[in-house]
Formats: sequence, C-alpha cells, structure tokens
Amino acid sequence: MCVSDGTAAQVIYRAMQYCHLNGHPIAAALLNGLNFHLGHAVIGRGADIGPGFVILHSSGVCINSRVHAGENLVIEHNVTIGAEQDQVPVLGDNVFIGAGSTIVGGVRIGSNVKIAANSLVMKDLPDGATAVGVPAQVVRVDRGRVGPQAAKDNPSN
Ligand SMILES: CC(C)(COP(=O)(O)OP(=O)(O)OC[C@H]1O[C@@H](n2cnc3c(N)ncnc32)[C@H](O)[C@@H]1OP(=O)(O)O)[C@@H](O)C(=O)NCCC(=O)NCCS
Repeated sequence: MCVSDGTAAQVIYRAMQYCHLNGHPIAAALLNGLNFHLGHAVIGRGADIGPGFVILHSSGVCINSRVHAGENLVIEHNVTIGAEQDQVPVLGDNVFIGAGSTIVGGVRIGSNVKIAANSLVMKDLPDGATAVGVPAQVVRVDRGRVGPQAAKDNPSN
C-alpha cells in the first residue's frame, strides 16, 4: 500500500522527530521505515525542519538526516535535499521546492525562495529568489527579474 498524499508523511516525520529527540531510537527507526513503505518518502531521522513543513505528495521525497530548514518549507514529490562531499543544504524560512527538484551540497538557500520544478540547485540562493533550471539560475529576486531575464523589462537597453 502507498499513501502518496503528503499529510501522512508529515505526521510520521513529526512523530519520528519526537522519538529521535527524546531517546526512542528504535521507535524513530520504525517510523523512518514506515514513511518509506507507506509514503515512499525517505526523511532522515535527524532532519531538522521547522514548523509549517508541508509535503504535498510524498512519493520520491528524499531528505538527508543533517538537513536544517526553517519555517514553512513546502515541497512537492520527487524532491531531493541531500549531501554532496559530506556537506548538506541549509534552508531559510518560506521555501517552496517544485516537483522533481534536487538541492545538494553545502548550499545556503535564503528565505522566501521558490525553486521551479525539475531544477538542480548546487549554489547558494539569496533571499526572495526564484530559481529555475539545471543548473538552477536565479530569474527573479523579490519579484524583479534578474540576469538575462531582466532584459525583458528594459528592451531598449
Ligand atoms: C517556480 C514556480 C514556483 C514559479 O512560481 P511564480 O510565483 O510564478 O514565480 P515568480 O513570479 O517569482 O517567477 C516566475 C518566473 O519564473 C519563470 N519560470 C518559472 N518556472 C520555470 C521553469 N520551470 N523554467 C523556466 N522558467 C521558469 C517564469 O517564466 C517567470 O519568468 P518570466 O516572468 O520572466 O516569464 C513555478 O513555476 C513552479 O515551478 N512550480 C512547481 C509546481 C509543481 O511542482 N507542481 C507539481 C504539482 S503535482
């Protein structure tokens, strides 16, 4: 049986986090396995994700045990937040990660950031950024276009 609605994975993650932080490692390990078998989500026992965490669809979610994320992280299915060369990402508050996206390595993702579906993030993203593509490029900061996209706002330049 698979429950791909993310609510079950969120609840199991919170129960696992409680067990992990309160000296119940066997229960935490069992809940970790339950999340994989029920929701096809792999969320490390030590993953430190703040309040307001929402998983829209749990299938294919993979989050490293050493990841830190702030409040209101929202992720779609097939999102990976993982290690590269033993370094893991740190995420700010109010981050949205679209379906199929991967964030790897010791990158810092700012607050109020949107990462488009199927993006690959291997560099830091500033506060307010919208990042798209492989590798991800910042196309907006605080809703204003940046980079090559900015030319669309000033076609005479
Ligand atoms: C990234 C995303 C969140 C953007 O949301 P938004 O509120 O429109 O973001 P912003 O207004 O800050 O930025 C929009 C800009 O990013 C561009 N953009 C968004 N997604 C893009 C993509 N995948 N590739 C290239 N450019 C993209 C838009 O074209 C736009 O730029 P433009 O105005 O110059 O054309 C959204 O496009 C996305 O990818 N959502 C994922 C949804 C998802 O995973 N759904 C699964 C449901 S099961």
